[in-house]
Amino acid sequence: MKIFIDTANLADIEAALRRGFIDGITTNPSLLAKEPKAKFEDHIKKIVELARELKNGVHLSVEVFSREPDEIIRQAKYFIKEFGYPNLSIKVQVGWNELETIRRLSEEGVSVNCTACMTPTQAVMAAAAGAKYVSLFWGRIRDAGDPEKSKTLWGALSKLREEKALEDSDSDPAAVVRQTRTLLDQRGAAAEIITGSMRSVVDVKQAGLAGAHIVTVPPKFFPAMISHPKTEEVVDQFLKDFEGWLK
Ligand code: E4P
Repeated sequence: MKIFIDTANLADIEAALRRGFIDGITTNPSLLAKEPKAKFEDHIKKIVELARELKNGVHLSVEVFSREPDEIIRQAKYFIKEFGYPNLSIKVQVGWNELETIRRLSEEGVSVNCTACMTPTQAVMAAAAGAKYVSLFWGRIRDAGDPEKSKTLWGALSKLREEKALEDSDSDPAAVVRQTRTLLDQRGAAAEIITGSMRSVVDVKQAGLAGAHIVTVPPKFFPAMISHPKTEEVVDQFLKDFEGWLK
């Protein structure tokens, strides 16, 4: 399992890069909108500078902000030229019209991270169209099975269940990742699964165990991922025992 950081926050990216454990950075328009107001290009260039300085070659995903095919292609090409970062992937949302866009970009050698996938079929179709990465949204997939968390979409989701377009396992994120991995492996697809939308440290581990190649993690979870009270206890004990022996 590779670990990416899911943020546009410069301090968090720097802290993770300095520690060397992340293989990539994923951003999206909502994450950027949490940062102090700035010119979009300038903010991404600062992320690129950090990546070059602290772990050159680390993956970086930047998302387009349009639903219109020609505009998505224009933005993708602009990002590639403007940021000049060799390991840049362009995040394009999954969808019927977007498949053609993904294909066009991929055929031109653009690394596409197809984002906002909730089902195995979405991910497999995106991979077949040429996406190098397919991003499955773990927390949101789980929310789709919860009437409270998906109040406004409940009618649409129930209709899809009636039509047998969705089944119970489609709101179990571990099942979705497992099934996607099986279907991608069956067709020998080179695409890698990124799971995002992590809601806890346990989600991170479960996503990796379910078969995600990559888990992209909000930085707030990293301290808990590297801590355990028993680690603190035993390290304190080692130091105390050794000091006693030295006296
Ligand atoms: C993944 O690439 C996305 O940036 C992200 O994980 C979306 O998750 P959210 O449900 O927290 O918005």
